[in-house]
Amino acid sequence: MPREEWTMSQTEKNLYEAFVGEAKASLRLWGFAERADQEGYQAVARLFRAIAAAARIHGVKHLRQLQVIGSTEENLEAAFESESTVSENVYPAMIAKAEEEGHQAAAVGFSHARDAEEVHAQLYKKVIGHMVAEEEPTYHVCKVCGYVVDGEPPDTCPVCGAPRKLFFEVE
Ligand SMILES: [Fe+2]
Repeated sequence: MPREEWTMSQTEKNLYEAFVGEAKASLRLWGFAERADQEGYQAVARLFRAIAAAARIHGVKHLRQLQVIGSTEENLEAAFESESTVSENVYPAMIAKAEEEGHQAAAVGFSHARDAEEVHAQLYKKVIGHMVAEEEPTYHVCKVCGYVVDGEPPDTCPVCGAPRKLFFEVE
């Protein structure tokens, strides 16, 4: 919730609920598109991606109307706080529980997310330096674990060991 629930009107609560629904739909459709690509159904994959893009447009619009998108300076602070909280508190507990329950794939996935997000938090700090120096950084993302690197990709991903060719450049 963007703020205390009791201070929100029903429409604001609905905007938040709609945002969460669209965010989930967008990611689910992205996953469906990947599977359709793997199975050779390119037209279906394109349709899933098109509707995922529409869901993203709707979700961001709901978020904007909730007035939780601030100035870029405020958003960098909010994004840094969010990444730090998730990597320091949320994922460690999830990793421990997944190991306790013997769900190794989930434990590895949570670990990748935690390790990648620690780096994301550092990148938010680093981008301020780029802004001051008026530099145009390039970013590459590991397709396997979500590790993000400022500049050229490494030969192997430091989080998951994926080779350089599995990094893509962000536009
Ligand atoms: Fe990786």
